[in-house]
Amino acid sequence: MKITFYGHACLGIEIKGIAILVDPFITGNPKASHIDINEIKADYILLTHAHQDHTLDVETIAKRTNAVIVSNFEIASYYGNKGFKNHTMNHGGSWNFDFGKLKYVIALHTSSFADGTYGGQPGGFVIEGEHKNIYIAGDTALTMDMKLIPMRTKLDLAILPIGSNFTMDVEDAIIASDFVECDKVLGYHFDTFGYIEINHDDAKRKFFDKGKDLMLLDIGGSIEL
Ligand code: NI
Ligand code: MN
Repeated sequence: MKITFYGHACLGIEIKGIAILVDPFITGNPKASHIDINEIKADYILLTHAHQDHTLDVETIAKRTNAVIVSNFEIASYYGNKGFKNHTMNHGGSWNFDFGKLKYVIALHTSSFADGTYGGQPGGFVIEGEHKNIYIAGDTALTMDMKLIPMRTKLDLAILPIGSNFTMDVEDAIIASDFVECDKVLGYHFDTFGYIEINHDDAKRKFFDKGKDLMLLDIGGSIEL
């Protein structure tokens, strides 16, 4: 499994040659101006919630790639009504896709499209694929529901928001990593806007002091699991 960070909360995940794109927000991110969205592969586009900093580039990329848009019922249907391929899910549900098993899990946040259209309830994803399991928290507060995840899935990586203001901060993400029983964390949802700028060294040290590993990728950077 290869995971590429495209800035903010956008991830490219490659499993068995299948390209999964999560929460595409690239053209609106000045820090990601070196990323060409026409180069990004997508067989699936997973959306945690409807906020524009997670959905801005969905239609452009889905039109070119014909990707299947996977999200909660309201978001997937919203794109379905516009003619895009889609797969509707809801909290607690799983589906076996060709890349692996995907579960839509609870996130504590809000979800509306930029025009005010209702975007259902926000979520995160657990992906079990190719002998590696990951949790993508989405935008969320620290929530006790995270404790349910390791009861079903032993995680190899937790992808957690750490920028505060709209989501968990670094300290809450450390507690979240305890809750999901995964000490290997990829941080996201930081630095894009003034409200969520963080000190990288400070964040990494706080994780290190708890015996945990916080990875912060450069935009365009990848890790192999
Ligand atoms: Ni959000
Ligand atoms: Mn966000």
